[in-house]
Amino acid sequence: MGQLEGKTAVITGGTTGIGLATAERFVAEGAHVFVTGRRKDALDAAVAKIGRNATGVQGDVSDLADLDRLYAEVARQNRRIDVLYANAGGGEFATLEQVTEKHFDQTFGINTKGMLFTVQKALPLLNEGASVILQSSNAGSLGNASFGVYGASKAAVRSFARTWAAELKDRSIRVNAISPGTIDTPGIDGLAPDQEGADQLKSYMASTIPMGRVGRPEEVASAVLFLASDQSTFITGIELFVDGGRNQI
Ligand SMILES: NC(=O)c1ccc[n+]([C@@H]2O[C@H](COP(=O)([O-])OP(=O)(O)OC[C@H]3O[C@@H](n4cnc5c(N)ncnc54)[C@H](OP(=O)(O)O)[C@@H]3O)[C@@H](O)[C@H]2O)c1
Repeated sequence: MGQLEGKTAVITGGTTGIGLATAERFVAEGAHVFVTGRRKDALDAAVAKIGRNATGVQGDVSDLADLDRLYAEVARQNRRIDVLYANAGGGEFATLEQVTEKHFDQTFGINTKGMLFTVQKALPLLNEGASVILQSSNAGSLGNASFGVYGASKAAVRSFARTWAAELKDRSIRVNAISPGTIDTPGIDGLAPDQEGADQLKSYMASTIPMGRVGRPEEVASAVLFLASDQSTFITGIELFVDGGRNQI
């Protein structure tokens, strides 16, 4: 029997990278997953790749009306939520000198505001005993030059995990943050202008990681599954790093 047999999970940003790998793992463990993303073609491709027990709902997490549509679809299918993985996010490089208001608003709009309302609007549908997993980043506690707004947006997410764990404990809802280090995804490739630049970036990042390599999306999915499942029933409010030792050693 799978670790999420009969459970309902919502994964924002579930169409590529870490979110898609987690959706596939959750379905393999017996869950029905709702996955979201802004691009319809990527969403349709992800639902087809997952193959079964998946519903795609197009939407932008920084748009509150889109979040309402997401949860309306969950309710329309007469489901309640056992696992919420608020994963959608991303960033771009900009030094303090280069940061614009648009860069700030976009980054915080998706990673921080989008995170808050993804969880707030799920509250009426969350089952007692549900697990909420917030996608932070190891960048939230590093001083990476040119990644300050992204890092700050993810540090805020880590803080949310503490507060919401306190606020939701009386409903037996656990809230934890997960902080990947560099993981080989389209999101990382998108930080560079082309594939050669992406390969150079990942090679440089690997040299900063004690384990000597970047991570795979499936390795994050395994850690998310741990936090989602009954293997972690006494764990709330933590930040779980999946970073090859980058922030630990
Ligand atoms: N890869 C890493 O090294 C790493 C490390 C630490 C943390 N993270 C975090 O992990 C999460 C996933 O990253 P990833 O590397 O897997 O990136 P990815 O491959 O680019 O996947 C991002 C997913 O989120 C969706 N998305 C992006 N913005 C969205 C929005 N506003 N509303 C709804 N969906 C949105 C994307 O689809 P659309 O573009 O179609 O919307 C896609 O499904 C992000 O929060 C990222 O910050 C990644």
